[in-house]
Amino acid sequence: MIYYNNINIGIILTKQTIFYLCSYNSKLFLFMLNIVIFGAPGSGKGTQSEKLIEKYHLTHISTGEILRNEIEHDTKLGQLANKYMSEGQLVPDEVVIDILDGLLGDNPDSVGFIFDGFPRTLKQGEALDKMLNKRGERINVVLSLEADDEELTNRLIKRGEMSGRSDDTLETIKARLQVYYGQTAQLKEYYANQGNLALINGIGTVDDIFGRIENTVDKLKY
Ligand code: AP5
Ligand code: MG
Repeated sequence: MIYYNNINIGIILTKQTIFYLCSYNSKLFLFMLNIVIFGAPGSGKGTQSEKLIEKYHLTHISTGEILRNEIEHDTKLGQLANKYMSEGQLVPDEVVIDILDGLLGDNPDSVGFIFDGFPRTLKQGEALDKMLNKRGERINVVLSLEADDEELTNRLIKRGEMSGRSDDTLETIKARLQVYYGQTAQLKEYYANQGNLALINGIGTVDDIFGRIENTVDKLKY
């Protein structure tokens, strides 16, 4: 065991340890990494989440995807959610908070989460803080993807024409943007007050934007 004090072996061991931890987190840390990916409809939350998962091996929680899946399976929850989503309105807080609570409980071994599309109201933000506190965790950073309405609308119209997400029509996009500015954007102030807000320029190529995100995440102190 004395050989562990040999600096070369020490370095090798350290590298092995870093490698092991890297396979989960890409850097040496023993804490959970919880990220909120935040932004208006079309800002690239889903797109950048995929890249974050690839690099940091986090568990992705997208409330929009969960609800669309419920709609597809015509469940009771799906039928309820569809009433709101088809109009570009928010599904009631209690419903999405319950979903989140369940998912956190189902993933006790996760090295961290990416919250995509949640929280969307102050009530949801406070509920998320409470849920994480109970696990002895917190949000490490809120990455707010910043893009102008013209860019957002063009992206969503284009996606609507190509893949046909049913809320990607001009009328519903307008409603979704209104809801974002009226009910969701205020969370930026909430997280700025916690010292967790990082504004990310969301215009450019997907890789350029991810480069900005990596710069922010890799500088985090745990
Ligand atoms: P949700 O599914 O969360 O949708 P959204 O917030 O409206 O956002 P999108 O998923 O459309 O966009 P995104 O930011 O993920 O961008 P993406 O990467 O896809 O929510 C849908 C609905 O569910 C809500 O309206 C609400 O009704 C309900 N809901 C969900 N969560 C809720 C909650 N917590 N509380 C209450 N209700 C809730 O990119 C968009 C497009 O742009 C894609 O085609 C993509 O390829 C393209 N793109 C991405 N990046 C770039 C780039 N850099 N340059 C060019 N194009 C790009
Ligand atoms: Mg999305």
